[in-house]
Amino acid sequence: MKLVLLGPPGAGKGTQANLLKELFDIAHISTGDILREEMKNQTLLGKEIKKFVESGALVPDEVVTKIIENRLTHGAGISKGFMLDGFPRTRTQAEDLDKILITNKNSIDYAIYFKSTLSVIIQRLTGRRVCRKCGALFHAVNKPPKKPGACDICSGELYQRSDDNEETIKNRIAIYEKSTQPIIEYYKKQGKLIKVDADKDADFVKSHLMEVFNKDGKLDTDKVERRS
Ligand code: AP5
Repeated sequence: MKLVLLGPPGAGKGTQANLLKELFDIAHISTGDILREEMKNQTLLGKEIKKFVESGALVPDEVVTKIIENRLTHGAGISKGFMLDGFPRTRTQAEDLDKILITNKNSIDYAIYFKSTLSVIIQRLTGRRVCRKCGALFHAVNKPPKKPGACDICSGELYQRSDDNEETIKNRIAIYEKSTQPIIEYYKKQGKLIKVDADKDADFVKSHLMEVFNKDGKLDTDKVERRS
């Protein structure tokens, strides 16, 4: 199973990726997580991309595409499939992804589009808290941790992402609308788009996705709004 997760920042891609990872036993590859790890480790790449990520701008196509190409060509743990979270984000990235996969006689099976509205996104992102140790996601209101400031899973410290402030969020949304939204059409034309109402609460979205896919990863066409 090879999936692409599409949708605006804060739509819940990362949250649902954790479910799909277990459901299908496939790798979760998040370009945002990879880039933040580079920044945390202060690598050469991390220093180069910091200004893009912290302002909410897109990191140049060639940089992220190279990361994905390496991961899909040489990376471990993708024999059962993968789910790309946050990539592709531009038409160029989408076309380059297809080229990378064709070289390995592969292609994307489905693109899941998490459709969400502006007010919901802003509420979710301003309240998001992330575990510094295990990366688990929480929300100050929607999913508060049992103990304030500490992760329910590993007790790690919870922090707020530097790009989760209102000004940067608005910039990320504007960039999403200009650069990423058009690629929804790209997957729609290929008959691979699955749309979910991501404004609903996380359990609803989760059960919708579980209904849409059978255990073996096959699509249940009666239960999905699939556009071709
Ligand atoms: P990235 O990390 O990919 O950020 P994003 O796309 O902005 O998405 P988010 O991680 O913010 O949101 P999400 O949809 O995963 O929501 P989540 O599940 O966390 O990218 C960051 C930056 O890296 C970019 O700005 C760019 O600079 C760079 N970058 C990355 N990829 C790139 C690329 N391909 N090209 C160029 N640059 C790239 O949920 C959010 C919150 O809401 C959480 O608190 C959660 O608990 C809560 N929540 C989730 N779902 C629900 C629900 N259904 N109901 C209630 N609460 C919910």
